[in-house]
Amino acid sequence: MQATAVTGAPTRIWYRLALLYFVLGTGLGVYMGMSEDHTLFPVHAHLNLLGWASLALTGFIYERFPAASASIWCRVHFWLYNLALPVAMIALVLLFKGDAAFGPVAGIASIVLFASIVIFAVNVWRNSAS
Ligand code: HEM
Ligand code: HEM
Repeated sequence: MQATAVTGAPTRIWYRLALLYFVLGTGLGVYMGMSEDHTLFPVHAHLNLLGWASLALTGFIYERFPAASASIWCRVHFWLYNLALPVAMIALVLLFKGDAAFGPVAGIASIVLFASIVIFAVNVWRNSAS
């Protein structure tokens, strides 16, 4: 049975995306270790922390508070976060590889990401009475 909160939206997608980022993040870590090129360490760190750790924790929190995951704000959070995160990560790779034009892209994606996190925080705060 899928991890569906009692009255909320399915939380399985958060876990699946977390797993995807875990593979990507640690894969990049192994690559950095083997190549001895650590240029992309901030990308590695955030793939693992904004990807693996935060997405998994988000899934747990929505599962714990079904009223929050039933809210339209959960969907807004989901789409803003999961569109902005890959854009931010790819823009950072290109930026660290020397293409300064991707700095503003990473900046804008980070702001969208942050906005989605504020939405998440307010939504869970308001819907976590029980
Ligand atoms: C197979 C697993 C992993 C490998 C091989 C690996 C490898 C690396 C390497 C080579 C660095 C660069 C170190 C440096 O240049 O100072 C690094 C940094 C880092 N890694 Fe990993 N890593 C792995 C998993 C993880 C996971 C699961 C997380 C978080 C949940 C993580 C978080 C970080 C962070 C935050 C940094 C930056 C540390 C700093 O600020 O110096 N790593 N990792
Ligand atoms: C919108 C979200 C976030 C933004 C825009 C952001 C941005 C940044 C920036 C600009 C740095 C400095 C990078 C450097 O000096 O090269 C940094 C470092 C770091 N951040 Fe974040 N961060 C975010 C979320 C997080 C989260 C949620 C975590 C942990 C769960 C985290 C953990 C770290 C760590 C461990 C470092 C030091 C390692 C590194 O330099 O990559 N960050 N972050």
